[in-house]
Amino acid sequence: MLVTRVIVLLLCFIFSNPSIGSETVNVYSYRKPQLIKPLFNAFTNNTGIKVNSVFAKKGMLEKIVSEGRNSLADLILTVDIGRLTDLKKAGVTQPINSVLVQENIPSNFRDPDGHWFGLTSRARIIVSSKTRVKIGAIKSYEDLISNEWKGRICTRSGKHPYMTALIASVIAASGESEAQTWLSSLKKNLARKPQGNDRAQVRAIYEGQCDVAIINHYYMAMMLADPVQKKWASAINIIFPNQNDRGTHMNVSGAAIAKFAPNKKNAEKLLEFLASSEGQRIYGTKNGEYPVSREVPRSDLLVSWGDFKQDSLSLVDVASYRKKAIMIADRVGYND
Ligand SMILES: [Fe+2]
Repeated sequence: MLVTRVIVLLLCFIFSNPSIGSETVNVYSYRKPQLIKPLFNAFTNNTGIKVNSVFAKKGMLEKIVSEGRNSLADLILTVDIGRLTDLKKAGVTQPINSVLVQENIPSNFRDPDGHWFGLTSRARIIVSSKTRVKIGAIKSYEDLISNEWKGRICTRSGKHPYMTALIASVIAASGESEAQTWLSSLKKNLARKPQGNDRAQVRAIYEGQCDVAIINHYYMAMMLADPVQKKWASAINIIFPNQNDRGTHMNVSGAAIAKFAPNKKNAEKLLEFLASSEGQRIYGTKNGEYPVSREVPRSDLLVSWGDFKQDSLSLVDVASYRKKAIMIADRVGYND
């Protein structure tokens, strides 16, 4: 009994103490293992540092908060500006001041205090039926509230983080009251109650339930690579909204270093790798996302879609309007 306890204690000590045995870094990730494994393998090949990763679909923040000082998390990987700022707000992250990271990640994609960093960026695009919507008929998020689209639009829940961030960007651009008018008018044009994920909206266009939808761009890459979903993606045209004014709304996947990271130095090295040209190239192409580093070329599919104007609104501003965005979705009864 005592021997077992000593062994367990010893294992815990080795896991949390990088000076014993080989160097390690522990990653808590919202991102799917198949997506990030190639990155970790490349990092280990370059540095000899082993990456232990825990994948969680939900409840990551609660897990880290409840673990407190005993948390083994070094680096936290997640998607959406909301989740990144929630981590900082909950006090489970710590700032780092890496010149390498700052040089590779544009300032609108990272926390000014150094608590979180965007690693890939994603455009919230509009998609429309190839057969039922003329090319050029929709040019902006604001165009979606025209009477022409009554009963023809599908979206996911108005309270999903991706929609919250989009609504927040409309508040930033036009003010709260106009954003509310926009969302309530968008709701009136919906073909059905908000439901499903982004891909389900594309499927609904393919199946003729609606003609227009709002999705994150990388789902196009994923659907085109899937034998069943390829026909959904092939039924639609993509639109980068607001090219004549503020640009298309962008969000990020990103990372933060945990407050009590037992292997902080290694976490910093991993973050630097993820922001480096090599890391950005692997991360960007694996999920069809845009690298945040301006030095790194886009994947062939993204190049084929051409260049587009991105909304340069700082993600800190997007995050600051999230609460209002959720309230607006409530007030207009978007999901009812
Ligand atoms: Fe997603």
